[in-house]
Order: sequence, then C-alpha cells, then structure tokens
Amino acid sequence: MRALTPAAVRFLASSRVQAELEALAAEPLEPLSTLAALRRGWDADEAAWIYDQALLRRKARVKFPRAAAMLFEAEALEQASAAPLARWRAEQVFRPYGRVADLGAGIGGDALALAEAGKQVLAVERDPVRAALLEHNAAALGLSGRLRVVRGDWRELDLNTEAAFADPARRAGGRRTVRLHAMEPPLDDLIRLAKRVPAVAVKLAPALDKGELPQGAGIGFISLSGELKEALAGFGELAWAEPWALVLPAAACLRGSEGPLRAGPVASCFYEPDPAVIRAGLVRRLAAELDAVQLDAQVAYLSSSGCRETPFARSWQVLEHGPFRQKTVAGWLAAYSAGGLEVKRRRSPVDPALLEKKLAGALVPGGPALTLFLTRIRGRSWAILGRRG
Ligand SMILES: C[S@@+](CC[C@H](N)C(=O)[O-])C[C@H]1O[C@@H](n2cnc3c(N)ncnc32)[C@H](O)[C@@H]1O
Repeated sequence: MRALTPAAVRFLASSRVQAELEALAAEPLEPLSTLAALRRGWDADEAAWIYDQALLRRKARVKFPRAAAMLFEAEALEQASAAPLARWRAEQVFRPYGRVADLGAGIGGDALALAEAGKQVLAVERDPVRAALLEHNAAALGLSGRLRVVRGDWRELDLNTEAAFADPARRAGGRRTVRLHAMEPPLDDLIRLAKRVPAVAVKLAPALDKGELPQGAGIGFISLSGELKEALAGFGELAWAEPWALVLPAAACLRGSEGPLRAGPVASCFYEPDPAVIRAGLVRRLAAELDAVQLDAQVAYLSSSGCRETPFARSWQVLEHGPFRQKTVAGWLAAYSAGGLEVKRRRSPVDPALLEKKLAGALVPGGPALTLFLTRIRGRSWAILGRRG
C-alpha cells in the first residue's frame, strides 16, 4: 500500500475523493483494471491512495460498522479495537466518567466508541497521519463536538482528566510482544500516569504475564464469540478488587475470587469453560455456579448431571467416556453412527488433527456431528465423547 501523509489524508477527505470512494463501494475492485481506470482521472499517487482506501473500507467493516464513511491506514486498522469490545468498554468500564482521555488513540477504535457513549474525549496520537485520520473519522461520524484530537506524545501533556484509557502498541523492534515493559509506551509510563489520573484502564494482550502487573492492579479478560480477545488492566478507581471475565456478545460478566476445588467424575453433562473464564482463573467459581465438578485439578473441564444454560461455557451431552484408546473411540463412533468428529484436548499429548484423520474411516455420511475431548484425569489419559446439548 502507498504510504500516507497528512496531505494525502486531506486529499482523501475532500468531497471529490469521497464521491469517488462512494462510487467504488458498489463495484468489484480489480487491482489492475480499477487502478488503470482511476489513473485516467488522478495522478499515480492519488489513484493508489484512493484504491487503498476502497480496499481498507471493505476490510474495516468487521471492526467499524460505519466504515463506509471513514478513512484508514492498514497497520492502524489492524491495531484498532473491534466495535463490540470498544463499545462495552466505553459504556460499562467508563460509565461513571464524563471526560475520558484516550492516550494513543490511533484511528479511533476506542476514542470514537467513547464519544458515541456520550463522553467528552481527548484523543492524543503522536503519529500525524493517524491523528489526521481520526480527525476525519470523528467528523464523518458526527462526533467532532465530543472528540478533540491532540497531535503529540501524551507523556509531555499536562493531562487534566478524570479517567484515561490506553491501548499501547504491542510491537517492539517490528515484532509482536506480550511483555508489558516492551510495549509502546511501556507499562511503567502508564503506572506513573495512574498516580495523577483517578481512573486508568489499559488494554493488554490476553497472553500477558500477570506477574508483570504491579500489586493492586485490577485485571479482566474479554472473549468475543468464544475467542479470547484481550485483557484489561485497571488502576486507581478502576483497580477492580477481583478478576473478571467478560463474554461478548452476551455481555455477561463473571467475577469473584477462585473458590475451593470441587473435584468429581464425568456425569451426563460436560462443560468447556469460555477462554476468558479460564484466563481469569475463574473455573472453580464457574463450577460452583453450575453446581458442577472439575474433572481434574489441572484441567479446565467441568461436568454435572444435567446441563444448565450459561454464557460462560459450552456444554455437551456425554455419550461415552473412559480411558483413551483409539480402538474404543472408533467403536463409540460406529455405535452412534457418527457423521462428523471434532477432537479437542487439554493436557493430552495426542494430536487432534491426526486423530481426526485416523478416525475418519469410522464415520458415516449423514450421521450426527460429535465431539471427542481428550484429557488427563488423575494421571490417566481419558476420552469423553459428547453431542452438543
Ligand atoms: C494500538 S494503537 C491504538 C489503537 C486504538 N485503541 C484503536 O482502537 O484504534 C496505539 C497507538 O498509540 C500511539 N502511541 C504510542 N505511544 C504514544 C505516545 N506516547 N503518545 C501518543 N501516542 C502514542 C501509536 O502511534 C498508535 O497509533
């Protein structure tokens, strides 16, 4: 993609280019013919910028419901928060606050959601191109009245705000990092900020090492459609006393301290907790809520007699279970005339893809799709065959 400059953003924001982009939205984009057609009306740089924006708008739809009015830059789009997460943060985490600073706002995934939630937003961004894109995006979405963009390094500003959000870039030397001290800006800068600003929340990689967080920081984990997306650390008024797990799009939040282990055998219902629940260390808490037992102290699999509806776990009706042997499992599949098989595992050395391949011969077309869980229960390799309940 052709690199953008602040002047290029001004060009792209002009009404002539916006009209061109609107026209392109209805057409297939062919790298050669579309670019050739654009070059008849624009110079080479201009045509490339327009073509890139047409592509980026299409790509951005999954993150920005109103992408058709916005302008993007490829890396900033990749880094931008997805709309459901940004909206939840803006409406729930920052609910008590009227003024929020977004420190390192990028093209506005979070800043725009905060403004849409009715906050007065100070969006600081040191990259001049991203700051210009954010200014355009705020205006295009009718949010300029609530969102002020400041170009520069927030560490050099005298921030007078009741609450702040930061989403540090997780790249160091061109490579992705989960190390909190290698983020840009590093965690220490944010910890120092939390001494001056009453409420600070920081978006982090879910794979973070919790040991790197200072004592007293709050932590939560967020999943979207069953996929673990991010962690959120809270400081000051947002230093939540207990860890939490948020499951989107259900917007269900499980919080609390981890209770005692309730261990027990496989019963008629099998639960696989949501990854946010597992990462927040709330599996035992969930077991208590579901009146379920954990199959092994080291494994995040639960079971109970009868499945309960819960947003915090997926459930399966247990068809068979016992010590894992490929031959036994093949027999189970034949007995249920299984038509499809997904193998999942926790603490089992077996390669799921390989086993699926080996067992494919035991499947019959049109039969039910079943799931096989492989794990260790009190030191024994165990298999559980289930049907989605
Ligand atoms: C991960 S991106 C933010 C994405 C944004 N939350 C979104 O959803 O679109 C981090 C941004 O912080 C900016 N940044 C990093 N350090 C900064 C600093 N000290 N001052 C201002 N901006 C900074 C980077 O230029 C980058 O655009």
